[in-house]
Amino acid sequence: MKKDRRVLVDHSSLDDAGVFAYGRGEALVQTVDFFTPVVDDPYDFGQVAAANAVSDVYAMGATPITALAILCVPETPLPEGTLRAILAGGQDKLKEAGVSILGGHSVKDPELKFGYAVTGVAPRRRLLTNAGARAGDRLILTKPLGAGVLATALKRGELDPAAVRRMTRVMATLNRAASEAAVEYGARAATDVTGFGLIGHALQMADASAVTFRLRPSREWFQPRALDLAARGVAPGGLKSNREFYGPRIREGLIPEPLRLGLYDPQTSGGLLIAIPPRRASAFRAALRRRRVWHVDAGEVAPRSAVAIELEAG
Ligand code: CO
Ligand code: CO
Repeated sequence: MKKDRRVLVDHSSLDDAGVFAYGRGEALVQTVDFFTPVVDDPYDFGQVAAANAVSDVYAMGATPITALAILCVPETPLPEGTLRAILAGGQDKLKEAGVSILGGHSVKDPELKFGYAVTGVAPRRRLLTNAGARAGDRLILTKPLGAGVLATALKRGELDPAAVRRMTRVMATLNRAASEAAVEYGARAATDVTGFGLIGHALQMADASAVTFRLRPSREWFQPRALDLAARGVAPGGLKSNREFYGPRIREGLIPEPLRLGLYDPQTSGGLLIAIPPRRASAFRAALRRRRVWHVDAGEVAPRSAVAIELEAG
């Protein structure tokens, strides 16, 4: 089959989104994401599902414009108003993102699932990929980690209401402000932190850019309670499989075990990991502060060594 040169589907350098080149240097970014409830409140679930679905568009520095809803509804009846609340949560979040919902589709399924297919646009030359990080770049993370561990604790009924609210707020926050600042301040590469954990997504970026990431994790990177729960063995199945899969490519160093575990924790609707040239790093951080985007310095980019990621005590 002849290659369609308008379709940029190099998945090593693009996030879980596809890019279609059209017009004079324009790009269409398309992505789809839907999943089972991660929080109990249906409105909150709708918000999180929407923030998560648009995230890959933001990770690429593009602007989401339209969305189609995807809803899987179980045969067994749900509590009155559940579906309405999920859809309302999604609509409100996409309204905040400036995204128009054009329609959607629902099917019967054993398990409730919700999400969106999202379309975004960007000038092609401004697209952020995984592949642009260069030695010397600073790495910035824009949401605290720990969502997987906290969601597991929630399912076991071990999470206090304040922690549930905090976790929900983090997951429902759009990556919009972080993405806009990244494009405006000339970030070189970005990815969003989701199912493969910080380590997995950082590793994909390091590989695509042919560099090594030096990360200096500390407790501040995590939501309160997440590390204590991880230390007690509360962990989603994905954490273990992420560690098995990515561990051999990481020099874990001498950092404390709960911190290490947390880096493999799969995130739902996590933040962006952004590589920014050193001379623009402080202006970029100031821009994030002005936009009230939570962020930490995650480390820096080094020339390629024997491993993709080196962890150093923070
Ligand atoms: Co995704
Ligand atoms: Co992604």
